[in-house]
Amino acid sequence: ETGRLLFAGPVTFVKGVVAMSGLPPADRLEVCFAGRSNVGKSSLINALTGRKTLARASNTPGRTQEINYFALGEERYLVDLPGYGFAEAPVAIVAKWQALLKQYLSGRATLRRAFVLIDARHGVKAVDEEILTLLDRSAVTFQVVLTKVDKINRSERAAVIEQVKGALVKHPAAYPEIVVTSSEKGEGIETLRALIATLE
Ligand code: GTP
Ligand code: MG
Repeated sequence: ETGRLLFAGPVTFVKGVVAMSGLPPADRLEVCFAGRSNVGKSSLINALTGRKTLARASNTPGRTQEINYFALGEERYLVDLPGYGFAEAPVAIVAKWQALLKQYLSGRATLRRAFVLIDARHGVKAVDEEILTLLDRSAVTFQVVLTKVDKINRSERAAVIEQVKGALVKHPAAYPEIVVTSSEKGEGIETLRALIATLE
């Protein structure tokens, strides 16, 4: 119920940030969406906010190249991050996004929780582990969100949940509960809204 109320308010695009100096004032709680390129970060923000084109989603990996800030009323920010683990963009450009991503994840005081998106078909990969370790070191609580669960069957679902649970055991900053979602079918979206709304 609280989740529905918060997300029913105005949702606005604030700005795209290309350097830490461009971050908006740290005056409210924020949550971010991190994950490999193409995992579904922008689609999830659109599903959560009920706006099909708020965050730019695309089948081309590397679509989001800035840190995009969205405001939920005046209460909190949703932060769409550039993907990691994408090898096909020019090396110098990838290096720049990745540096910014790491600075953001380790240096934002008002970052209350990082949602780390994991493709339900693939599970936790080495490149994800690197980010999870960075979050441990930065003492940023993170929570895994499985994405694209509409693409797998029940037994695959059970298997990937086990794999993720196994991976999380090594990470002190992990919040143990895994959120299973499909931006396409709407599964898990209300659960995630409620979760974001209750963070303090
Ligand atoms: P980058 O910005 O490049 O890092 O990607 P992203 O993580 O923001 O992914 P994006 O939301 O752009 O989605 C990538 C592709 O996955 C798009 O073609 C989406 O339509 C598709 N996709 C995202 N979520 C889902 C889902 O829940 N189910 C299905 N079937 N496809 C999805
Ligand atoms: Mg994106």
